[in-house]
Amino acid sequence: MTIDRSNTHTTEDLQQIDNDHVMHPWASMGQDDPNLGVVEKARGIYMVDRDGKRFIDGPGGMWCVNIGHGRQEIADAMAEQVSRLGYVSPWTASTEASVLLAERLAAEAPGDLNTVFYTTGGSSAVDTALRFIQFYNNIKGRPEKKVFIAREKGYHGSTYLSASVSGKERDRKFLDTNTDFVRFLPNVNPYIRPQGMSVDEWRDAKLADLENMILEVGPEKVAAFIAEPILASGGVIVPPKGYHKGCLEICRKYDVLYISDEVVTGFGRLGHIFASEKVFGITPDIITCAKGLTSGYVPMGAAIISDRLINEISSDDHSDILFSNGYTYSGHPVSAAVALKNLEIMERENLCAHVREISPYFQERLRQLGEKHEIIGDARGMGLLGCLEGAAAPGTPEAKRLAIDHEFGHRMDVGAEKRGLLVRPLINMCVFSPPLVITREEIDKLFDILDETISEVESDMLG
Ligand SMILES: Cc1ncc(COP(=O)(O)O)c(C=O)c1O
Repeated sequence: MTIDRSNTHTTEDLQQIDNDHVMHPWASMGQDDPNLGVVEKARGIYMVDRDGKRFIDGPGGMWCVNIGHGRQEIADAMAEQVSRLGYVSPWTASTEASVLLAERLAAEAPGDLNTVFYTTGGSSAVDTALRFIQFYNNIKGRPEKKVFIAREKGYHGSTYLSASVSGKERDRKFLDTNTDFVRFLPNVNPYIRPQGMSVDEWRDAKLADLENMILEVGPEKVAAFIAEPILASGGVIVPPKGYHKGCLEICRKYDVLYISDEVVTGFGRLGHIFASEKVFGITPDIITCAKGLTSGYVPMGAAIISDRLINEISSDDHSDILFSNGYTYSGHPVSAAVALKNLEIMERENLCAHVREISPYFQERLRQLGEKHEIIGDARGMGLLGCLEGAAAPGTPEAKRLAIDHEFGHRMDVGAEKRGLLVRPLINMCVFSPPLVITREEIDKLFDILDETISEVESDMLG
């Protein structure tokens, strides 16, 4: 049977087939058909649906289309690589693209993070980092050092292991995760600190949470701390200044490794290829990355591991010890060729410098919305990451509040879409991470649409 792609299907046909045959991530088990929009094409910061309607891509795909949509150079790099070599087993061979990309990533990563383990995306990068640490401690003869400390609201992926260290409680409700060797620290969001507490006091309390947790479990049992520099899917939570450095110092004190999950913050989102050192002043033991590595054009991720860790477990007697972890598509030549071209474009167009220059304006416009609208409880972000958190039901009991929060998110979604902006509602939050190529005029357009949408939602919900 040949697949008919001759545009004879109406949008409704495609939605029906989608509803019948595709299970999307985070699929609802409700009876309603989701009827997701069908995107036809995309250019720069815009996506176009099948009726020709143009939308600003507020979330930048899924925090990933950093260089913007529709780059012919990426298509050419893919075509060139496919026609030269479409695939080779990473078990038995290397390719020019994957080798050169690893060299480049090692040069960009801080400190002695020089060894790249390629994965298929962010979840598998986190999975690999966690498995590597288990492996490392087993080889070092301390199999009891296995507990991972993670954080509430953190998101690290959707494999069993990466989901086990993800702390979004609603995501864990009906799915099993491993709870034997994972502990969660409470929410670090300064927005929820008690009245009268300074941000510095909040930071110190959060650092104490980490230290107390390590002591409670026993440092000899704690393997690693895993943290996103900014908790992205948890609602763009920016921890207080000095938090990451403090966490790293505590980890060092107790011989606990530090994984910095840069799946969202990497590749220019905060104005640097990696944010750990350049923005937060830390050199972790492992950085995980994906998304912006290829700007979302093809799947790829990586765990970049410190030489120190590798050296500690390498010796002449260990040739029979294998790190039996890997993927058919580890270091895929087409993905690597795309990642190299992506980095070349970022460099040529000075996209990191552009983000550093333009993000204060982005953040200013975001915060103005928080000040202007009563229905916005918090407007926060950093770089080209932003979040508006709705406060449509302050003081309402939790059980009732959820429905109102959902309604706020839904109205924001519908209102923005009507005006030509796609946002990503997370219950009562809208998060933004537009392509890094966004201009000042486009930032104005994005926030003007939000401003109008919030006014409408505010008058509908608060009267
Ligand atoms: C910080 C972080 N880590 C890991 C992941 C998982 O990445 P992927 O969806 O590519 O598996 C995500 C996805 O959003 C993420 O935000």
